[in-house]
Amino acid sequence: MAVLGPGGVGGLVGALLAQDGHRVIFLGGPETVRTVREHGMHVRSGMFGDFTVKAEADTELREPVDLCLVTVKQNVLDAAVDRVSPTALGDGLIVPLLNGIEHPAALRARYRPELVVPGVIRVASNRVEAGVIVHGSPFVEIDLASATASPERLDELVALLNDVGVQAKALEDEAAMLWGKLFFLAPFALLTTHERCAVGDMRTVHRTQLIDLVTEIATLSRASGVPADVEAALRFYDAFPPEAKSSMQRDAEAGRPLELDAIGGALLRIAQQLTVPMPLTERLIADLT
Ligand SMILES: NC(=O)c1ccc[n+]([C@@H]2O[C@H](COP(=O)([O-])OP(=O)(O)OC[C@H]3O[C@@H](n4cnc5c(N)ncnc54)[C@H](OP(=O)(O)O)[C@@H]3O)[C@@H](O)[C@H]2O)c1
Repeated sequence: MAVLGPGGVGGLVGALLAQDGHRVIFLGGPETVRTVREHGMHVRSGMFGDFTVKAEADTELREPVDLCLVTVKQNVLDAAVDRVSPTALGDGLIVPLLNGIEHPAALRARYRPELVVPGVIRVASNRVEAGVIVHGSPFVEIDLASATASPERLDELVALLNDVGVQAKALEDEAAMLWGKLFFLAPFALLTTHERCAVGDMRTVHRTQLIDLVTEIATLSRASGVPADVEAALRFYDAFPPEAKSSMQRDAEAGRPLELDAIGGALLRIAQQLTVPMPLTERLIADLT
């Protein structure tokens, strides 16, 4: 199997697969490839302990695999998929675990649609340097759903991930799965990054803005055919530890590129198609751009 983008998510899940005896090829840029070839993939995790796996690494896929996890960020997806040609992939599943909602269509335009199985992952895992992953959350949960792949292959994938310690499950409805994640993530990411605050202040000091933003994005979700519950979103944020920060905000603080287009840009493009007004989302994104 292969992992395109051996960072916080890909490094962790790939290392868990390799630790369980699977042959894993990490696909990335030349420097990361050199480091992983020399030193393996090292994971520091409260949940799984600290371990290093020896693993193969390459700048491109050169042989068929049964599975290729896609774990780059959306802003580099186009460049990254050049490393995995449809011919080299063969009949392997393409399993993107990116945040966002538009990447499955892009992947289905490049690979056979029946091979594409989108997933959403809940985890806190950081690539602190090439080949070194720090996994902080006491869970790694992956939901998978595909409008185009066979249920049998989806079930095999769920079983494989569960075998290596990931809590994976198959869901029926791909659009509902992707929207479900985006609906909770987008207000949290956009507002905490815009206001440079943790979730505690977001849900108290900025509550009016939060409710307006969640309501706006819920309207878009419903217009896309996926129900969205504003009260449930607010309860979800209310249950977070007050000091929790979004990954977009942590990226902003560290001067890293933001996943603003994958999360916010996608909302605005869908809103334009469906003629749903999104004035607050638009303003926050314009300020952050
Ligand atoms: N990390 C989390 O806890 C978490 C939780 C939920 C969802 N997500 C989502 O998962 C996705 C991945 O996030 P992440 O945190 O794992 O990102 P990340 O740590 O930045 O890892 C991305 C990896 O992609 C590699 N990469 C960049 N350009 C590439 C290219 N052209 N070809 C091949 N590889 C390339 C990077 O390589 P280098 O190592 O060489 O820089 C890096 O290893 C995002 O959409 C994120 O929102 C992450």
